[in-house]
Formats: sequence, C-alpha cells, structure tokens
Amino acid sequence: MRPSARSLSCLTMVLVAVATVCLAVSTVAQELSFRNAPASAAQMKNPYEGHAGAAAAGKKLYGQNCAQCHGNNLQGMGPAPTLINPATQKAKAGELFWFITNGDLNKGMPSWAGLPKPQRWQIVTFLESKFNEGIRLQ
Ligand code: HEC
Repeated sequence: MRPSARSLSCLTMVLVAVATVCLAVSTVAQELSFRNAPASAAQMKNPYEGHAGAAAAGKKLYGQNCAQCHGNNLQGMGPAPTLINPATQKAKAGELFWFITNGDLNKGMPSWAGLPKPQRWQIVTFLESKFNEGIRLQ
C-alpha cells in the first residue's frame, strides 16, 4: 500500500469512529434528559404522584399561571408551544418540575421559582394527569 493511501484509510476510520461516538452520545443525551435537565432533576419524586386532589389544585394553578400562554387545553398559544408533545409527555416528573422552576427566560418561558414548591408539584401532577388521560398530539 502506498503511504498516502494508507493514511487516507486511517483517516477514514478515525472519522467513522468519531461520528459513531458523537451519534451515540447525542442519542443517549436525548433519551435521558428533557431540555437538558440535570440527572438529579430526573431523580426527584413527585410527592403527589397520581393524587387526584393535587391534580385538581394543579389545574386551578395552571389556569391562573400557565393557560394564558399554553392555552386552557395545553394546546399552545402565540409563541408558547403546546405541552402535548412527545418530549414533554415522556419527561420525568422531576424534569418537568425542574424546567417549570427555572423556565427558559431567553425563549419566553418564565421561571416559576416564586410559586411555593407544593404548588409547582401540583401543576406537574395536573400535567401528568392530562397526559395519562390520553391527550395526544396527532
Ligand atoms: C409568558 C408566557 C408563558 C407562561 C405564562 C408560561 N409559559 Fe411555559 N413556555 C413559554 C414559552 C415561550 C415556551 C417555549 C420556550 C422554548 O422554546 O424554549 C415554554 C415552554 C414550556 C415547557 C416546555 C415545552 C417543551 O416542549 O419543551 C413547559 C413544560 C412549560 N412551558 C410549562 C409551563 C407551565 C407549567 C407554566 C405555568 C406554571 C408555564 N409554562 C407558563 C411561555 C410561557
């Protein structure tokens, strides 16, 4: 093999390897985290999981704080997206809690750290109850 051909095939192998690793890392990252939530967020447990009273309280809070942007039926309005999308529905309760707490200020999603913690969990419980009712985007 001429040296130039050998170094070319070496380079190809390196490029293929790098591309494979990049693809694997981005796939794992997408699967593991909702909106780049840290792993510690995913581990937080919803203290009200499946609790109908908390979902009802969360529904009221959603109406007061979220519906003006995300719509009464989570359908999205104006620049705010629908919450009925696969990423949000697959997000872990702790990741939703984390995202609601921090918001994404540059993109127009406010931080709700000012709402007491139990109220933020109630909103998460409400959202999950809607997802469990089978609301689907299709
Ligand atoms: C002032 C308008 C506004 C209000 C009020 C608001 N949001 Fe948002 N929200 C946004 C926008 C805009 C985005 C999209 C941000 C982006 O694209 O990064 C967003 C994104 C989200 C997302 C992520 C959706 C996704 O697919 O990534 C969730 C979950 C969410 N909001 C929940 C809530 C909840 C719960 C409340 C009430 C406590 C709320 N939002 C109140 C504007 C709002």
